[in-house]
Amino acid sequence: MGGLTTRSDRLQNRGSGGSPQRGDRGTTVVPMIQHVTLNNGVTMPSLGLGVFQSPPEETAAAVETALELGYRHIDTAAAYGNERQVGEGIRRSGIDRGEVFIETKVWVSDYGFDETLHAFDKATRKLGVDRLDLLILHQPATDRFERTIAAYQALEKLLADGRVRAIGVSNFMRHHLDDLLKQTRIVPAVNQIELHPYFSQPDVQKAGAEHGILTQAWSPIGGITFYPGWGEDRRSVIEDPAIGAIAEDLGRSPAQVMLRWQLQHGRSAIPKSTNPKRIAENFDVFGFELTGEQMAAIDALDTGVRSGPDPDVPRLERFNMVIPED
Ligand SMILES: NC(=O)c1ccc[n+]([C@@H]2O[C@H](COP(=O)([O-])OP(=O)(O)OC[C@H]3O[C@@H](n4cnc5c(N)ncnc54)[C@H](OP(=O)(O)O)[C@@H]3O)[C@@H](O)[C@H]2O)c1
Repeated sequence: MGGLTTRSDRLQNRGSGGSPQRGDRGTTVVPMIQHVTLNNGVTMPSLGLGVFQSPPEETAAAVETALELGYRHIDTAAAYGNERQVGEGIRRSGIDRGEVFIETKVWVSDYGFDETLHAFDKATRKLGVDRLDLLILHQPATDRFERTIAAYQALEKLLADGRVRAIGVSNFMRHHLDDLLKQTRIVPAVNQIELHPYFSQPDVQKAGAEHGILTQAWSPIGGITFYPGWGEDRRSVIEDPAIGAIAEDLGRSPAQVMLRWQLQHGRSAIPKSTNPKRIAENFDVFGFELTGEQMAAIDALDTGVRSGPDPDVPRLERFNMVIPED
């Protein structure tokens, strides 16, 4: 597992919202950004902005707002259809490219060695950058696992060539990691998985920790348990009474409590919002702590039941989606 460092990077707060504090020299600053050190020594801000389902026309503004508030990590994907707008938001913010950690994902239809090298070209062209900070495989494609391996070998080449600073995977279960590790050389830096209080995947986290792979939580505030389109009989974790009670005790929101829980466990989290108030709320999680008892109470909510897609089940219609060149 990568080591956690808390840097008092007092960033100039160029926007409004969040919890700005007055700095020593009278400048407005935002609280600390916490970094995690990946298994290859690269540091990454633990908390980033997710943009799954962020409509392209709202994505640049969301990214710009987040960067103004102090976020320095954005998680996108070829499959989200908004890499171009992520790049635009970064440029509009005026923040130096080198200060922003850009993570994106290769989609399944681009798996294969040459195809994945080409996917890197497509992603960087859309984002308008030369190099990526973290490039990961979006999921194991169990109907074409040999192509998944070849795709990962292309990531290894991109890493060796200095085109990406770190590589990883997403939605890999223990057995996918075992199969990957047998056939490749570089241990993934990150495994991004569905992870919220109702589905915390302890065994996948343990598999990651055994190999020095950082667990990164997708749906870190449980979006997959409440946003539309993923089934009618779900229970929304953001409305959980135990989380609500902790939030009330602390004078925080349920989303903030869940993000704090993720970070205190040493995980990376990438909450999505396109709403400026909620983007700020989700970043304002560095000024309080959960007690051991509160952490344990949230840990106890795990149901072992996922809300998102099963990584072992191929979704052909989705897998075959073509990622455009531009
Ligand atoms: N690798 C994968 O397969 C995979 C799958 C899913 C997601 N991801 C990544 O993980 C990121 C986060 O996951 P997610 O988008 O599934 O779920 P999430 O971040 O847990 O939740 C997002 C949902 O919560 C709402 N929301 C945001 N902040 C809130 C707050 N403070 N209070 C109440 N509601 C709030 C958002 O709506 P508003 O926008 O209206 O605020 C949105 O509906 C994605 O954006 C993506 O980058 C990866």
